[in-house]
Amino acid sequence: MATGSIRSNALGLVLEPSDPRPLYVQIADQLVETIEEGRLKPGDRLPAMRELARDLDCALVTVSQAYELLTARGRATSRVGKGTFISETRDRGEPFARRWEPDLGRLARAERMEGVMEQLTRATAPGAINLANGHPAPETFPLQDFARAFHRTLVEDPPELMQYRGASGDPDLCETLSGLLRGRGCQATAADIIVCSGAQQAADLVATVLLDVRNVVASESPTYSGTLGVFDARGVTYVEVESDGDGIRPDDAERVFAEYRPRLLYVNPIAQNPTGAVLPQRRAKQLVALARRYDVVILEDQTGWQLTYDAAARPPLAAFDTDGRVIVMESLSKSIFPALRIGYLYCKGALADALELAKARTDVFTSTLTQRALWRFMNGPGYARHLRSARALYIERRNAFVEALARHVPWADVRPPAAGLNVWLPLPPRISTQAAFDACARQGVLVMPSEPFYPTRQGPPALRLSFGHLTPEAAAAGVERVGTALSKLIE
Ligand SMILES: Cc1ncc(COP(=O)(O)O)c(C=O)c1O
Repeated sequence: MATGSIRSNALGLVLEPSDPRPLYVQIADQLVETIEEGRLKPGDRLPAMRELARDLDCALVTVSQAYELLTARGRATSRVGKGTFISETRDRGEPFARRWEPDLGRLARAERMEGVMEQLTRATAPGAINLANGHPAPETFPLQDFARAFHRTLVEDPPELMQYRGASGDPDLCETLSGLLRGRGCQATAADIIVCSGAQQAADLVATVLLDVRNVVASESPTYSGTLGVFDARGVTYVEVESDGDGIRPDDAERVFAEYRPRLLYVNPIAQNPTGAVLPQRRAKQLVALARRYDVVILEDQTGWQLTYDAAARPPLAAFDTDGRVIVMESLSKSIFPALRIGYLYCKGALADALELAKARTDVFTSTLTQRALWRFMNGPGYARHLRSARALYIERRNAFVEALARHVPWADVRPPAAGLNVWLPLPPRISTQAAFDACARQGVLVMPSEPFYPTRQGPPALRLSFGHLTPEAAAAGVERVGTALSKLIE
């Protein structure tokens, strides 16, 4: 029941020309405030529209829209012939209070890099040299060639290509990617490729299809933390397989397979992140044979195979696969540039069908515009030129970095990486990774602690140092600071 008509001036509504909100929204918002402050109570009748329009010097339609908005928000009710009244709804006028949180559970909170990213942010002082981030060198990004490729895509491709399309990827790009795999000994066809939005999505799709809470995942250790983060979120249990300077050890893989019967083995055979190891072909063959014997699926991360420095890349494990149990994933972030957000999966059979459905569920398909430009780039002369110059630049940086380590950290047992953008620096057992990180930060250099790279987050103290994005001068200065910091801990 109405308790009285309120005049607009009594409500103190003000229209502010500089306010970016439309006038009717300003009126509605101020009326909500008035309700929440208790100056308008349930049942009160709002001023007649004509009256309010006159007092506020605005059009009648503005007030009418404001009242409609208020009604749509459930704050007012209009009664034909009688006017608009403040609603009786319960809880009306109570400010929003956050009293409820969804039960996210253990898995959503487990964040492999969380503490590390915070530490890195805290340690980022002006002038700090970043050896932590593992990024490729922007000066290698073939942006002019891509500008042309995008332009041609927009003007030459028929509009139908920009329509909704199948989830597995642009057929021309899939053909190009499968051609590269055929050149490395795989029996790949375009139909076996699923183009993904980065390798991160590729790993997530594999986890969606294959992994459930408490499934056992065997993994080399240390290994790429981004993929481990995906597996963490599924609640898997890890069993680590030992590695040496040549990557994962098949004899230990056999022990793990026999003892734990894992569902999946994750391996990073070329440009191993973080160590830079390259798996010998004999080991690759042995691992595939073992996976067959113990019925394990292998996810091999071929990211960075284009950036081997001392010899051409060896065939993927998938080249030795005879029954479709090896899934290849690759990111083009390192070999071309990260902003593409392009990676892919190569696999066959029912697994491929399930992965394609998972891809369609996740984001329908990866940007055709980017895929078509990438296809043009990869089939033009710029691609080979780009890879040659990127490799030459990284070899120079790798050599300078390893030399700087020999000079400034002479006690370190460092293997020059045969591929990739990282060096793994094992620390003497009595130095904790945390102490090394802190000492380096005090010296003005950021380094990556080893724990996120261990599936179980525990392992010998070590640091990952990245050289790809730094000039040899900056990298040498960074390594010198690492040497100074660590020598203080060793003394
Ligand atoms: C071994 C490895 N796999 C996957 C990725 C992730 O690639 P993307 O940028 O496509 O998600 C990286 C990136 O650092 C990597 O080093």
